[in-house]
Amino acid sequence: MQIIRDIATLHRAVAALGQGGKSVALVPTMGALHEGHLSLVRMGKRVADHVVASIFVNPTQFGPNEDYAAYPRDEARDAAMLVEAGVSLLWAPDVGTMYPEGHSTHIEVAELGSDYCGTARPGHFDGVATVVAKLFNQVRPDIAIFGEKDWQQLAIIRRMARDLDLGVEILGAPIARDTDGLALSSRNAYLTAEERKLAAVFPKTLAATADAIAGGASVREALTEAEAAIVAGGFDRVDYVALADAGSLERLFEWRPPARLLAAARIGKTRLIDNYPVG
Ligand code: PAJ
Repeated sequence: MQIIRDIATLHRAVAALGQGGKSVALVPTMGALHEGHLSLVRMGKRVADHVVASIFVNPTQFGPNEDYAAYPRDEARDAAMLVEAGVSLLWAPDVGTMYPEGHSTHIEVAELGSDYCGTARPGHFDGVATVVAKLFNQVRPDIAIFGEKDWQQLAIIRRMARDLDLGVEILGAPIARDTDGLALSSRNAYLTAEERKLAAVFPKTLAATADAIAGGASVREALTEAEAAIVAGGFDRVDYVALADAGSLERLFEWRPPARLLAAARIGKTRLIDNYPVG
């Protein structure tokens, strides 16, 4: 697996992979890889001839008081995992290559990015959309794969790819979970042993709430009860538990498919997100 850090070399290497009409799938990541990321790579191997992975901890999607500096970084470990998973090429630019001096253009996917995680993290999705558009232009893949774990992010990227005719097919991959239901996340590493045990209440409550709503429970009551159960289970704060249209992300107060239960909550220093299909 080649590890590439400059755009000219990247273009040559991707062109070589594509020779003879071979297809390329891109799996963008910020590193600190886990089984969730690897499940995206495996999907890539099924749908394309080659998988290109990227690792870039993107400063523009972190707020001023967020964990950009502390975000776990271990490229050697990540690269070994990607080799094992059969990735052809790792694109790992540094910040100066991604954002040259004077960089001043960004992408905003209006509306889809303002509610839910956009409320607690203003500007976050502009940073995500901009870096993903840049990754698409740098790698020029046929397909790009994102996890359903970040449902709002996936919806925003689908909308951006459509609106800007990016010519990349966007695929969503199912959420990889630990045995107790907690969605795998690089940020789970911040949890203390005690918090990690308590954290299971989050997916359990969301799964039960999704079932209750699909079974006809009042949406407002189910959402209020879910927030109370998450706090009672040891979380410090719930940022939101919401029922949303799965595509437009419009808030729903009466259930109709396709709908998704979206949530974010904080335990100690860690902010966790998760989501479940409803019905
Ligand atoms: P990161 O958090 O590293 O996640 C990279 C990809 O892995 C995303 O598409 C995310 O949804 C997916 N993923 C993470 N945990 C998962 C899980 N448990 N199951 C399935 N998929 C999972 O998301 C980002 O990086 C960044 O915002 C990025 C898109 C790379 C732009 O900087």
